Amino acid sequence: ASVSGVPHLLTDNDLSPKQLSDIIQSACQFKHQAKVQGKPSGAPLAGKTMALMFSKRSTRTRVATETAVAYLGGHAMFLGSQDIQLGVNESLLDTSKVVSSMVDGIMARVGAHSEIETLAQYSTVPIINALSDLYHPTQILADLMTLHELYTPKGSEPHLTAPSSTLKNLRLAWVGDGNNILHSLMLQLPKVGMHISMATPKGYEPNADILSQAKQNAQAAGTEVGVFHDPKDAIRDADIIVTDTWVSMGQEEEKKQRIQAFAGYQLTTDLIEKSGAKQDWKFLHCLPRKQEEVTDDVFYSPRSHVFQEAENRKWTILACINQLLVKKGF
Ligand code: CP
Ligand code: NVA
Repeated sequence: ASVSGVPHLLTDNDLSPKQLSDIIQSACQFKHQAKVQGKPSGAPLAGKTMALMFSKRSTRTRVATETAVAYLGGHAMFLGSQDIQLGVNESLLDTSKVVSSMVDGIMARVGAHSEIETLAQYSTVPIINALSDLYHPTQILADLMTLHELYTPKGSEPHLTAPSSTLKNLRLAWVGDGNNILHSLMLQLPKVGMHISMATPKGYEPNADILSQAKQNAQAAGTEVGVFHDPKDAIRDADIIVTDTWVSMGQEEEKKQRIQAFAGYQLTTDLIEKSGAKQDWKFLHCLPRKQEEVTDDVFYSPRSHVFQEAENRKWTILACINQLLVKKGF
């Protein structure tokens, strides 16, 4: 979204299919440059500051962003909910005007998605969504980068291969909550030509408006969106199986009720193989992970690529920051 000429990454639909593929490829190029060639970035963010306004906890997104900004030669300033009053003691409007007047970009982790829309409305600098209750766009960028790396044919290099060629027609199965991660997956997968099948318990389906946007994206791309309640229906023919916590940040009080409602949704090797997943199925999870949603025999197996996925948060966030703050837009 661009508000008053300032580009932002608030939802997954802020990226066109081409922009999404370019970000994944750029992330692979940065990873290659930094880790294989050991080259510095040339410090394009020298003298610039990025504020991290986080009203919820974070390990990966925070470490990824702070190290990405450092690599680009800039300064990352973490502003947690104990440090500043994000809409508590001062309005989001005032906070946005004040902070954006002094920094060059903002990474914001909020509760209600409307909070980040308000920040963007009054910010004079680009804002990247670092998670809201409805979306987690930068997480899915890392998921797609990881799949691109995993499906790049032997002998080719991910940074020299188009993601559209490696990801097209893969089927991803989601078994779990109809939450922010599922919403972002539903919106992004069609843009790289992937199919999605989801199984959520009754009462925990994804947001209906976002599902309808996902179906529009899929129609435009010629991909499929399968909506189920039975995990077996989602897993059948899937190349990649994905889940997330059943209790997202802010839902801690519903924990008992949720654990009951999600009985039968725990991913185990047995469930996945009996449900007819593809023979070489792979597993992803955004982390942090609880034992409830996936057993150790899946989570720590060679089929699980969760730690590569976590590292790729850094390279994809780096590519987004470079695009918004150095190249000035997608
Ligand atoms: N996956 C993810 O966003 O992790 P953090 O909450 O630790 O940032
Ligand atoms: N659905 C989880 C994702 C954490 C990265 C949450 O919102 O807490």
